[in-house]
Amino acid sequence: MADKILVTGGLGYIGSHCVVALCEAGFEPVIVDNHSNARASVLERLERLTGRSMTCYDLDIRNRAGLETLLQREPCSGLIHLAAFKAVGESVARPLVYYDNNVGGSVSLFDAFEAAGGGAIVFSSSATVYGEVNAEPLHEALPVQPNNPYGQTKAMMEQVLADMVRAPGARSQGLALRYFNPAGAHDSALIGEDPKDQPNNLFPIIVQVAVGQRESLTIFGEDYDTPDGTGVRDYIHVVDLAQAHVKALQALLGGGFEVPFTALNLGTGTPYSVREVVSAFEAELGRSLLQTLGPRRPGDVATLLADPRAAAEQLGWTAERGLEAMVTDAWRWAGAARQWGLWDEDD
Ligand code: UD1
Repeated sequence: MADKILVTGGLGYIGSHCVVALCEAGFEPVIVDNHSNARASVLERLERLTGRSMTCYDLDIRNRAGLETLLQREPCSGLIHLAAFKAVGESVARPLVYYDNNVGGSVSLFDAFEAAGGGAIVFSSSATVYGEVNAEPLHEALPVQPNNPYGQTKAMMEQVLADMVRAPGARSQGLALRYFNPAGAHDSALIGEDPKDQPNNLFPIIVQVAVGQRESLTIFGEDYDTPDGTGVRDYIHVVDLAQAHVKALQALLGGGFEVPFTALNLGTGTPYSVREVVSAFEAELGRSLLQTLGPRRPGDVATLLADPRAAAEQLGWTAERGLEAMVTDAWRWAGAARQWGLWDEDD
Protein backbone atom coordinates (compact mmCIF):
# COMPACT_ATOMS: atom_id res chain seq x y z
CA MET A 1 0.00 0.00 0.00
CA ALA A 2 1.23 3.45 -0.91
CA ASP A 3 2.30 5.71 1.95
CA LYS A 4 -0.27 8.39 2.69
CA ILE A 5 1.12 11.90 2.87
CA LEU A 6 -0.84 14.75 4.40
CA VAL A 7 -0.49 17.91 2.31
CA THR A 8 -1.78 21.04 4.01
CA GLY A 9 -2.51 23.82 1.56
CA GLY A 10 -2.66 21.09 -1.07
CA LEU A 11 -4.97 23.09 -3.34
CA GLY A 12 -2.64 26.10 -3.41
CA TYR A 13 -0.02 27.05 -5.96
CA ILE A 14 2.87 25.04 -4.56
CA GLY A 15 0.64 22.47 -2.85
CA SER A 16 -1.15 21.43 -6.04
CA HIS A 17 2.19 20.85 -7.79
CA CYS A 18 3.40 18.83 -4.77
CA VAL A 19 0.27 16.67 -4.98
CA VAL A 20 1.07 15.83 -8.61
CA ALA A 21 4.72 15.09 -7.80
CA LEU A 22 3.66 12.84 -4.90
CA CYS A 23 1.31 10.85 -7.15
CA GLU A 24 4.06 10.46 -9.75
CA ALA A 25 6.39 9.13 -7.04
CA GLY A 26 3.86 6.53 -5.89
CA PHE A 27 2.58 8.26 -2.75
CA GLU A 28 -1.06 8.80 -1.85
CA PRO A 29 -1.67 12.46 -1.04
CA VAL A 30 -4.31 13.41 1.51
CA ILE A 31 -5.11 17.08 0.98
CA VAL A 32 -6.14 19.47 3.73
CA ASP A 33 -7.15 22.95 2.61
CA ASN A 34 -9.50 25.60 4.01
CA HIS A 35 -9.96 27.20 0.55
CA SER A 36 -8.79 30.56 1.89
CA ASN A 37 -6.64 31.07 -1.21
CA ALA A 38 -7.67 28.29 -3.59
CA ARG A 39 -10.53 27.57 -5.95
CA ALA A 40 -12.68 24.47 -5.56
CA SER A 41 -12.02 23.57 -9.21
CA VAL A 42 -8.33 22.85 -8.47
CA LEU A 43 -9.43 19.48 -7.16
CA GLU A 44 -11.14 18.47 -10.42
CA ARG A 45 -8.14 19.67 -12.38
CA LEU A 46 -5.80 17.64 -10.15
CA GLU A 47 -7.96 14.59 -10.77
CA ARG A 48 -7.83 15.17 -14.51
CA LEU A 49 -4.09 15.63 -14.41
CA THR A 50 -3.28 12.60 -12.26
CA GLY A 51 -6.07 10.37 -13.56
CA ARG A 52 -7.11 9.39 -10.04
CA SER A 53 -9.57 10.51 -7.42
CA MET A 54 -8.25 12.76 -4.70
CA THR A 55 -8.85 12.71 -0.99
CA CYS A 56 -9.40 16.26 0.18
CA TYR A 57 -10.63 17.62 3.51
CA ASP A 58 -12.01 21.13 3.86
CA LEU A 59 -10.31 21.84 7.16
CA ASP A 60 -8.44 24.65 8.85
CA ILE A 61 -5.12 23.67 10.44
CA ARG A 62 -6.23 25.48 13.61
CA ASN A 63 -9.00 22.90 14.01
CA ARG A 64 -7.14 20.52 16.29
CA ALA A 65 -10.06 18.13 16.89
CA GLY A 66 -10.70 17.95 13.15
CA LEU A 67 -7.05 17.12 12.49
CA GLU A 68 -7.09 14.35 15.11
CA THR A 69 -10.16 12.75 13.57
CA LEU A 70 -8.65 13.05 10.10
CA LEU A 71 -5.36 11.43 11.13
CA GLN A 72 -7.22 8.56 12.78
CA ARG A 73 -9.14 7.96 9.59
CA GLU A 74 -6.15 8.52 7.30
CA PRO A 75 -2.93 7.39 9.00
CA CYS A 76 -0.18 9.33 7.27
CA SER A 77 3.53 8.54 7.38
CA GLY A 78 4.49 11.98 6.11
CA LEU A 79 3.35 15.57 6.23
CA ILE A 80 4.10 18.34 3.77
CA HIS A 81 2.98 21.49 5.53
CA LEU A 82 2.33 24.42 3.21
CA ALA A 83 -0.88 25.97 4.54
CA ALA A 84 -0.05 29.56 5.55
CA PHE A 85 -0.75 33.19 4.86
CA LYS A 86 2.04 34.64 2.74
CA ALA A 87 1.62 38.34 1.98
CA VAL A 88 4.44 40.33 3.54
CA GLY A 89 2.62 43.69 3.54
CA GLU A 90 -0.53 42.19 5.04
CA SER A 91 1.56 40.54 7.75
CA VAL A 92 2.86 43.96 8.80
CA ALA A 93 -0.69 45.32 8.94
CA ARG A 94 -2.24 42.27 10.64
CA PRO A 95 0.55 40.48 12.54
CA LEU A 96 -1.71 38.62 14.96
CA VAL A 97 -3.63 37.03 12.12
CA TYR A 98 -0.30 35.76 10.77
CA TYR A 99 0.97 34.50 14.12
CA ASP A 100 -2.36 32.83 14.83
CA ASN A 101 -2.56 31.03 11.49
CA ASN A 102 1.07 30.38 10.59
CA VAL A 103 2.43 29.72 14.08
CA GLY A 104 -0.64 28.70 16.14
CA GLY A 105 -2.03 26.58 13.31
CA SER A 106 1.31 24.90 12.63
CA VAL A 107 1.89 24.07 16.29
CA SER A 108 -1.52 22.47 16.54
CA LEU A 109 -0.93 20.54 13.31
CA PHE A 110 2.52 19.27 14.37
CA ASP A 111 1.15 18.29 17.76
CA ALA A 112 -1.71 16.34 16.20
CA PHE A 113 0.68 14.64 13.75
CA GLU A 114 3.12 13.66 16.49
CA ALA A 115 0.28 12.41 18.72
CA ALA A 116 -0.97 10.26 15.84
CA GLY A 117 2.39 8.50 15.66
CA GLY A 118 4.60 11.08 13.94
CA GLY A 119 6.58 10.62 10.75
CA ALA A 120 8.39 12.69 8.16
CA ILE A 121 7.62 16.41 8.25
CA VAL A 122 8.57 18.72 5.38
CA PHE A 123 7.94 22.34 6.28
CA SER A 124 7.46 25.12 3.75
CA SER A 125 9.83 27.92 4.70
CA SER A 126 11.16 30.90 2.77
CA ALA A 127 14.33 32.73 1.86
CA THR A 128 12.63 35.60 3.69
CA VAL A 129 14.09 34.13 6.91
CA TYR A 130 17.50 35.57 5.91
CA GLY A 131 16.12 39.13 6.09
CA GLU A 132 17.98 42.07 4.60
CA VAL A 133 21.33 40.39 4.27
CA ASN A 134 23.99 41.49 1.83
CA ALA A 135 25.74 38.16 1.33
CA GLU A 136 25.30 36.44 -1.99
CA PRO A 137 24.69 33.71 -2.63
CA LEU A 138 22.87 32.89 0.60
CA HIS A 139 23.82 29.66 2.32
CA GLU A 140 22.01 27.94 5.14
CA ALA A 141 24.56 28.75 7.84
CA LEU A 142 23.76 32.46 7.67
CA PRO A 143 21.83 33.88 10.61
CA VAL A 144 18.06 33.81 10.52
CA GLN A 145 16.88 37.42 10.94
CA PRO A 146 13.58 38.10 9.18
CA ASN A 147 12.43 41.70 8.90
CA ASN A 148 8.66 41.27 8.79
CA PRO A 149 6.00 39.24 10.66
CA TYR A 150 5.49 36.81 7.76
CA GLY A 151 9.20 35.97 7.78
CA GLN A 152 9.13 35.73 11.57
CA THR A 153 6.38 33.12 11.41
CA LYS A 154 8.52 31.02 9.05
CA ALA A 155 11.63 31.39 11.23
CA MET A 156 9.65 30.55 14.36
CA MET A 157 8.19 27.43 12.84
CA GLU A 158 11.61 26.25 11.69
CA GLN A 159 12.69 26.56 15.33
CA VAL A 160 9.55 24.86 16.65
CA LEU A 161 10.10 21.94 14.27
CA ALA A 162 13.81 21.70 15.14
CA ASP A 163 13.06 21.60 18.87
CA MET A 164 10.21 19.17 18.40
CA VAL A 165 12.19 16.55 16.47
CA ARG A 166 15.14 16.83 18.90
CA ALA A 167 12.98 16.26 21.99
CA PRO A 168 13.54 12.94 23.79
CA GLY A 169 11.22 10.30 22.42
CA ALA A 170 10.23 12.39 19.39
CA ARG A 171 8.57 10.27 16.73
CA SER A 172 8.94 12.70 13.85
CA GLN A 173 11.83 13.79 11.67
CA GLY A 174 11.77 17.23 10.14
CA LEU A 175 13.15 19.34 7.35
CA ALA A 176 12.52 22.95 6.31
CA LEU A 177 12.71 24.02 2.68
CA ARG A 178 13.56 27.67 2.13
CA TYR A 179 12.02 28.70 -1.18
CA PHE A 180 13.51 31.48 -3.21
CA ASN A 181 11.08 32.79 -5.86
CA PRO A 182 8.70 30.11 -7.17
CA ALA A 183 7.41 30.75 -10.69
CA GLY A 184 5.93 28.94 -13.69
CA ALA A 185 3.24 26.29 -13.81
CA HIS A 186 2.68 22.63 -14.66
CA ASP A 187 3.21 22.09 -18.38
CA SER A 188 -0.27 20.54 -18.68
CA ALA A 189 -1.63 24.06 -17.96
CA LEU A 190 -4.15 22.45 -15.61
CA ILE A 191 -2.67 24.02 -12.47
CA GLY A 192 -0.71 27.19 -11.84
CA GLU A 193 -0.53 30.36 -9.79
CA ASP A 194 -4.02 31.72 -9.25
CA PRO A 195 -4.07 34.36 -6.52
CA LYS A 196 -7.56 35.15 -5.19
CA ASP A 197 -6.63 38.69 -4.23
CA GLN A 198 -4.41 41.21 -5.95
CA PRO A 199 -1.03 39.54 -6.57
CA ASN A 200 2.14 41.08 -5.10
CA ASN A 201 4.72 39.03 -6.96
CA LEU A 202 6.45 39.82 -10.21
CA PHE A 203 5.33 36.86 -12.36
CA PRO A 204 1.56 37.11 -11.73
CA ILE A 205 1.73 40.89 -12.09
CA ILE A 206 3.48 40.62 -15.47
CA VAL A 207 0.83 38.10 -16.53
CA GLN A 208 -1.90 40.60 -15.57
CA VAL A 209 -0.25 43.23 -17.74
CA ALA A 210 0.09 40.75 -20.60
CA VAL A 211 -3.60 39.81 -20.50
CA GLY A 212 -4.71 43.43 -20.15
CA GLN A 213 -5.98 43.21 -16.56
CA ARG A 214 -3.42 45.79 -15.51
CA GLU A 215 -2.23 48.74 -17.56
CA SER A 216 1.48 48.56 -16.84
CA LEU A 217 4.16 47.01 -14.71
CA THR A 218 5.75 49.28 -12.14
CA ILE A 219 9.42 48.52 -11.74
CA PHE A 220 10.23 48.98 -8.09
CA GLY A 221 13.50 50.87 -8.41
CA GLU A 222 16.34 50.79 -10.91
CA ASP A 223 19.02 52.23 -8.66
CA TYR A 224 19.99 48.99 -6.95
CA ASP A 225 23.57 47.83 -6.96
CA THR A 226 22.88 45.19 -9.62
CA PRO A 227 23.99 44.93 -13.28
CA ASP A 228 20.93 46.78 -14.68
CA GLY A 229 19.86 48.50 -11.45
CA THR A 230 16.69 46.43 -10.94
CA GLY A 231 16.18 43.80 -8.23
CA VAL A 232 17.81 40.42 -8.79
CA ARG A 233 16.12 37.20 -7.66
CA ASP A 234 16.52 33.45 -7.87
CA TYR A 235 13.38 32.26 -9.68
CA ILE A 236 12.70 28.55 -9.39
CA HIS A 237 10.23 26.53 -11.45
CA VAL A 238 7.35 25.31 -9.29
CA VAL A 239 7.63 21.77 -10.72
CA ASP A 240 11.30 21.61 -9.67
CA LEU A 241 10.25 22.93 -6.27
CA ALA A 242 7.56 20.25 -5.93
CA GLN A 243 10.03 17.52 -6.85
CA ALA A 244 12.35 18.73 -4.10
CA HIS A 245 9.54 18.16 -1.58
CA VAL A 246 9.21 14.57 -2.72
CA LYS A 247 12.97 14.04 -2.50
CA ALA A 248 12.96 15.54 1.00
CA LEU A 249 10.16 13.26 2.07
CA GLN A 250 11.88 10.22 0.63
CA ALA A 251 15.11 11.14 2.41
CA LEU A 252 13.33 11.51 5.75
CA LEU A 253 11.34 8.29 5.32
CA GLY A 254 14.50 6.49 4.28
CA GLY A 255 16.31 7.17 7.52
CA GLY A 256 16.70 10.88 7.63
CA PHE A 257 19.86 12.87 7.99
CA GLU A 258 22.86 12.85 10.29
CA VAL A 259 21.36 15.76 12.20
CA PRO A 260 17.70 15.53 13.28
CA PHE A 261 16.73 18.83 11.64
CA THR A 262 17.99 20.50 8.50
CA ALA A 263 16.93 23.62 6.59
CA LEU A 264 17.72 23.64 2.89
CA ASN A 265 17.58 26.37 0.24
CA LEU A 266 15.52 25.66 -2.85
CA GLY A 267 16.80 27.84 -5.64
CA THR A 268 18.76 27.54 -8.85
CA GLY A 269 21.67 29.81 -7.99
CA THR A 270 21.05 31.69 -11.27
CA PRO A 271 20.35 35.42 -10.94
CA TYR A 272 17.71 37.25 -13.01
CA SER A 273 16.83 40.93 -12.78
CA VAL A 274 13.33 42.37 -13.10
CA ARG A 275 14.23 43.64 -16.57
CA GLU A 276 15.50 40.22 -17.63
CA VAL A 277 12.25 38.58 -16.51
CA VAL A 278 10.22 41.19 -18.40
CA SER A 279 12.37 40.66 -21.53
CA ALA A 280 11.82 36.90 -21.31
CA PHE A 281 8.04 37.48 -21.23
CA GLU A 282 8.27 39.93 -24.14
CA ALA A 283 10.19 37.33 -26.15
CA GLU A 284 7.51 34.72 -25.35
CA LEU A 285 4.67 37.09 -26.26
CA GLY A 286 6.34 38.63 -29.28
CA ARG A 287 5.34 42.13 -28.12
CA SER A 288 6.47 44.64 -25.57
CA LEU A 289 4.85 45.25 -22.21
CA LEU A 290 4.16 48.69 -20.80
CA GLN A 291 6.48 49.51 -17.91
CA THR A 292 6.74 52.48 -15.60
CA LEU A 293 9.44 53.24 -13.11
CA GLY A 294 8.45 53.52 -9.47
CA PRO A 295 10.24 53.91 -6.16
CA ARG A 296 11.80 50.99 -4.34
CA ARG A 297 9.30 48.80 -2.47
CA PRO A 298 9.94 48.96 1.28
CA GLY A 299 11.64 45.81 2.55
CA ASP A 300 13.03 44.80 -0.87
CA VAL A 301 16.71 43.94 -1.16
CA ALA A 302 18.92 44.32 -4.23
CA THR A 303 19.75 40.64 -4.65
CA LEU A 304 18.40 37.38 -3.28
CA LEU A 305 20.29 34.42 -4.65
CA ALA A 306 20.45 30.88 -3.29
CA ASP A 307 23.47 28.76 -2.71
CA PRO A 308 21.72 25.55 -3.81
CA ARG A 309 24.55 23.14 -3.03
CA ALA A 310 23.25 21.74 0.26
CA ALA A 311 20.00 20.51 -1.33
CA ALA A 312 22.04 18.92 -4.14
CA GLU A 313 24.30 17.16 -1.64
CA GLN A 314 21.66 16.10 0.84
CA LEU A 315 18.69 15.38 -1.39
CA GLY A 316 20.35 14.63 -4.71
CA TRP A 317 18.12 17.35 -6.15
CA THR A 318 18.88 20.25 -8.45
CA ALA A 319 16.49 22.45 -10.38
CA GLU A 320 16.28 21.43 -14.03
CA ARG A 321 14.14 24.17 -15.55
CA GLY A 322 15.30 27.69 -16.38
CA LEU A 323 13.66 31.08 -16.82
CA GLU A 324 12.43 30.31 -20.33
CA ALA A 325 10.42 27.31 -19.12
CA MET A 326 9.03 29.33 -16.21
CA VAL A 327 7.82 32.04 -18.58
CA THR A 328 6.46 29.65 -21.23
CA ASP A 329 4.60 27.57 -18.64
CA ALA A 330 3.24 30.60 -16.76
CA TRP A 331 1.94 31.99 -20.04
CA ARG A 332 0.41 28.68 -21.18
CA TRP A 333 -1.34 28.42 -17.80
CA ALA A 334 -2.62 32.00 -18.10
CA GLY A 335 -4.14 31.12 -21.48
CA ALA A 336 -5.94 28.10 -20.03
CA ALA A 337 -7.12 29.96 -16.92
CA ARG A 338 -8.61 32.70 -19.08
CA GLN A 339 -10.21 30.22 -21.46
CA TRP A 340 -12.03 28.61 -18.53
CA GLY A 341 -13.09 32.02 -17.26
CA LEU A 342 -11.21 31.49 -14.00
CA TRP A 343 -10.08 35.08 -13.91
CA ASP A 344 -13.45 36.56 -14.92
CA GLU A 345 -15.27 35.62 -11.75
CA ASP A 346 -14.81 33.34 -8.75
CA ASP A 347 -15.81 29.75 -9.32
C1 UD1 B 1 8.27 38.22 -2.14
C2 UD1 B 1 8.21 38.41 -0.66
C3 UD1 B 1 8.79 37.18 -0.01
C4 UD1 B 1 8.03 35.93 -0.45
C5 UD1 B 1 8.08 35.84 -1.97
C6 UD1 B 1 7.17 34.71 -2.43
C7 UD1 B 1 8.30 40.82 -0.24
C8 UD1 B 1 9.13 41.97 0.26
N1 UD1 B 1 8.90 39.61 -0.29
O1 UD1 B 1 9.65 38.13 -2.54
O2 UD1 B 1 8.71 37.30 1.39
O3 UD1 B 1 8.61 34.78 0.10
O4 UD1 B 1 7.59 37.05 -2.55
O5 UD1 B 1 7.28 34.51 -3.79
O6 UD1 B 1 7.14 40.97 -0.56
N2 UD1 B 1 8.88 43.78 -8.59
C9 UD1 B 1 8.66 44.90 -9.37
N3 UD1 B 1 7.37 45.25 -9.64
C10 UD1 B 1 6.28 44.55 -9.19
C11 UD1 B 1 6.52 43.40 -8.39
C12 UD1 B 1 7.84 43.04 -8.11
O7 UD1 B 1 9.59 45.57 -9.82
O8 UD1 B 1 5.15 44.95 -9.46
C13 UD1 B 1 10.28 43.37 -8.31
C14 UD1 B 1 10.64 43.39 -6.83
O9 UD1 B 1 11.09 44.65 -6.42
C15 UD1 B 1 11.73 42.31 -6.80
C16 UD1 B 1 11.31 41.32 -7.88
O10 UD1 B 1 10.42 42.03 -8.72
O11 UD1 B 1 12.97 42.87 -7.15
C17 UD1 B 1 10.61 40.10 -7.33
O12 UD1 B 1 9.52 40.53 -6.51
P1 UD1 B 1 8.47 39.48 -5.92
O13 UD1 B 1 7.99 38.57 -6.99
O14 UD1 B 1 7.43 40.26 -5.17
O15 UD1 B 1 9.33 38.59 -4.94
P2 UD1 B 1 10.23 39.01 -3.67
O16 UD1 B 1 10.06 40.43 -3.33
O17 UD1 B 1 11.61 38.53 -3.93
